[in-house]
Amino acid sequence: MSALTWGHRYLMCPPTHFGVLYEINPWMHAEVAVDLDRARTQWEGLVATLRQAGATVEVVEPDPIAPDMVFTANAGIVNRRAGAAPQFIPSHFRFAERQPETEIFASWFAAQGFEVDRLPVELAHEGAGDALPFGNGLLSGYRFRSDLPATTSLSRLTGAPVRAIELVDERLYHVDITFCPLDDRRALCAPMGWDAYGRKVVEALVPEPLWLTDEETLGFCANSVVVGSTVVMPATPVRVGRILEGWGFDVVTCDVSEFLKAGGGCRCLTLSLDVSLGT
Ligand code: ARG
Repeated sequence: MSALTWGHRYLMCPPTHFGVLYEINPWMHAEVAVDLDRARTQWEGLVATLRQAGATVEVVEPDPIAPDMVFTANAGIVNRRAGAAPQFIPSHFRFAERQPETEIFASWFAAQGFEVDRLPVELAHEGAGDALPFGNGLLSGYRFRSDLPATTSLSRLTGAPVRAIELVDERLYHVDITFCPLDDRRALCAPMGWDAYGRKVVEALVPEPLWLTDEETLGFCANSVVVGSTVVMPATPVRVGRILEGWGFDVVTCDVSEFLKAGGGCRCLTLSLDVSLGT
């Protein structure tokens, strides 16, 4: 068993302009107020927890035009390459409300020396929210936010295999609510979110899956951040916590309830900056 080679460096965006101002997933209700002070405290708690676990956190300046920009997982795909500039593929968002984020994040990555490579304009793909590294490539979800053909483009741009699985429950609209790599053999897996083919793909890909129940899944348990042997979870069901600890992980629960109002947990609030596809 080896620890993940990525997950030690994150991009995050403070919730200065965060809010549930529109409804683009079933968790969002515009009439529910967000407590911005609590959101700020919870976000800082997550930053502190990640740093304590040994991760570095970089911060992008929030833009008032983009209340969901806190969910940096959706910025795009990061790929560090040996002997070349690191690559960034900005997301193409399904909904107009988030589309301004594409150029905000593209500029940030360009300024950091990344080569910015683009998906075809007509295809939607919501970045690391819908594509997580496992094995020799990416596991990518499609339907609600990402288009199936975008996964072919991703594979062409990165040179890495991209396995596409269809998401079937609109509450689990991004793959990162259904799948969380833990190390090179294990992952949290929520079959509730996938069709029979998707389940087969995951069974073939992950040697030791931790299958989540529907209830655990709907608590956003898979939307966790893994830093080496630490798993940072928005909620930790007792059963899952015991299994993870039995496997040698330290489990930390981080309250992100204000962000769950927008349909996002710990993973959604982070973008891993140290992913190297094809290594
Ligand atoms: N309100 C955001 C949206 O619907 C939440 C994004 C959650 N991000 C994620 N990676 N699952 O787009």
